[in-house]
Amino acid sequence: MHSALANSPQYTTSPERSAVVRLSLTDFRSYGSLRLDCDIRPAVLTGPNGAGKTNLLEAISFLLPGRGLRRARLTDVTRSNAGDVRPGELRWAIAATLDTATGPTEIGTGFEATGEGEDGGRRVSRMNDAPARSQAALGEVFAAVWLVPEMDRLFMEGASARRRFLDRLVAAFDAAHTTRLNEYEQAMRERTRLLRDDKAGFRNADSGWVSALEKRMAESGVALAAARRAFVHRLAAACELGVGPFPAAGVSLVGDAEQWLDNRSALEAEDLFRDALAASRAADREAGRALVGPHRSDIEVVHLQKSRPAAGCSTGEQKALLISIVLAHARLVSLDRGAAPLLLMDEIAAHLDSDRRAALFDEICAVGAQAWMTGTDRELFEAFGDRAQFFRVDNATVRGV
Ligand SMILES: Nc1ncnc2c1ncn2[C@@H]1O[C@H](COP(=O)(O)OP(=O)(O)OP(=O)(O)O)[C@@H](O)[C@H]1O
Ligand SMILES: [Mg+2]
Repeated sequence: MHSALANSPQYTTSPERSAVVRLSLTDFRSYGSLRLDCDIRPAVLTGPNGAGKTNLLEAISFLLPGRGLRRARLTDVTRSNAGDVRPGELRWAIAATLDTATGPTEIGTGFEATGEGEDGGRRVSRMNDAPARSQAALGEVFAAVWLVPEMDRLFMEGASARRRFLDRLVAAFDAAHTTRLNEYEQAMRERTRLLRDDKAGFRNADSGWVSALEKRMAESGVALAAARRAFVHRLAAACELGVGPFPAAGVSLVGDAEQWLDNRSALEAEDLFRDALAASRAADREAGRALVGPHRSDIEVVHLQKSRPAAGCSTGEQKALLISIVLAHARLVSLDRGAAPLLLMDEIAAHLDSDRRAALFDEICAVGAQAWMTGTDRELFEAFGDRAQFFRVDNATVRGV
């Protein structure tokens, strides 16, 4: 069923994927005004350096909660020579029609000028012509995962980028994860502020208020850790298989918070976490941050065929491991949500040999994911044949080719 569909360029709707079928951008990065109609097939964007290929992928990533694939500030993505806007108007906007398992859905997000300061504003989101309940609600409509060149060093650098990658994968699986993460981080920020103010001698940190925040951190933090554990358990089983020429990967979660859940109920784990936070107040006040909790967890990835941790693998092997994980994840999400996530793959083909490129394209089609892929040369994508749609990007204009 999958491959028959994937090999047919005629299909127009599919219950097996969520796909962008129309995209419009207003004053986003280099785009003044863009309207792009497309179909549900993978989309290949080619064009010279600086043309606007990554900007387009970034725009799609902004349809989800968060700051997109470049982790940009909302003010930075406003087109630099965009005209002035009045309070209540949008400084930049992205709108898309998505073909989803439940039918076409219109979603949009933008940055509304509040009039406070030169570039101030607030994020607003809409779904089917009504304000979205929350930014996080957009994650219930579709999921997206990205691989960008900056992630080539994912296994070499600090844990925070890996943790973000993990949480993106979990959120694609379970949209409520974003809300848990936000709740946890908000409670943690408030606690850090309270402890810091106390250090300054304001005596704000009356222990009742700190305890209340620690209770919130424990509840959301244990929920966060439980979701990650359940997810990694399934992801690990899928990654052990490998995908074609992409290596089998061992994936495991490391962190105090996740271990607290070993052989314990969530309530017991919450108690443990609260005790640990209470015991850590003085040290946290000194450090200016919480030293314990799921915001410090990490994932460990091993190249199974080589029995080697990812960080000790070659650059190409590390990239292949990442692709392997993303493809296994796409299969899992497709099984669970009934639709594969959108894949945003910036400059991914350039570093793969032709066999791996062909295998990647085959797997994208087999899993039914709308992958948005960029590159400078179209030849790299020829193995897609008519299973993909091709666009030429030039100086912030996009046309089908
Ligand atoms: N806020 C902004 N306003 C206007 N232009 C911007 C803004 N932010 C970035 N740009 C411009 O967008 C252009 C295109 O960037 P983009 O990263 O999309 O290019 P690309 O096609 O991916 O190129 P490459 O092949 O080099 O990766 C750059 O020239 C950059 O200066
Ligand atoms: Mg680019």
